[in-house]
Amino acid sequence: MTTVDVLLGTVREWIAGAGRLCVLTGAGMSAESGVPTFRDALTGLWARYDPQQLATEEGFRANPQLVWDWYALRRTGVSRAQPNLGHVAIAQWEAAHPGGLTLVTQNVDDLHQRAGSCEVICLHGAIFEDRWLDDCRRRARGEPSCDTQWARPGSPPRCGECGNPVRPGVVWFGEALPQHALAAAQRAAAECDVMLVVGTSGAVHPAAGLPVLARRAGARVAIVNPGPSEIDDAADVLLRGTAAELLPKLLG
Ligand code: APR
Repeated sequence: MTTVDVLLGTVREWIAGAGRLCVLTGAGMSAESGVPTFRDALTGLWARYDPQQLATEEGFRANPQLVWDWYALRRTGVSRAQPNLGHVAIAQWEAAHPGGLTLVTQNVDDLHQRAGSCEVICLHGAIFEDRWLDDCRRRARGEPSCDTQWARPGSPPRCGECGNPVRPGVVWFGEALPQHALAAAQRAAAECDVMLVVGTSGAVHPAAGLPVLARRAGARVAIVNPGPSEIDDAADVLLRGTAAELLPKLLG
């Protein structure tokens, strides 16, 4: 029996005995579905593109077409991707243990939802959602906001009334996370018995603080990642392998 097998057995027992399981996922969760990660050498998005230019409000204001077209490319890539065995294992475990799992993701793709996961806490927004760059002026007049679907087509689409551009509904660098999602994720971390951390480098806070929060609250933390991450110290167990390979063994 290999070391990974022994560790897998240990974590499986923890999960079997857990009243509450929390799973935190990052880009590595979708890597085997063909969605690039951010920081993997060569293949990662930030190894090929400038995050300041493409994932900040300043970058979007400086060149809205460049950013919009880049997200359009990513949207096409995600819509062509399929959930992998890791996504499916989480969704099946959730269905078999109603109320026993909280799934928190940093991913903006919809692969967890397409695999059947019901309540996904999305910390960094959703790539298929649109929103206005600036507050709709109608709101200032006490009227309901314009709907982004009414926007005039273009790259990016713009409000026909005031020219307000549409932007993707993701959290860019320097922006605050949706407060309700962050609060729900912190609560789940503080209340879980076991936290599985899958496919994240732990480079981005506040998401990277959740495993530490869980450990401090007495939970056992296991990391699934083929390589080292910046939050390995927060883990009781490091499972060196991929999401699609190990999650079915852990949750199946
Ligand atoms: N299975 C599991 N883990 C994997 C796999 C795989 N098949 N392939 C790669 N990984 C691991 C890598 O070793 C790496 O540690 O996934 C991690 C991906 O790290 P990042 O690319 O940094 O992605 P993530 O941690 O999700 O980034 C956090 O940063 O750019 C922002 O908002 C963006 O949500 C993102 C945040």
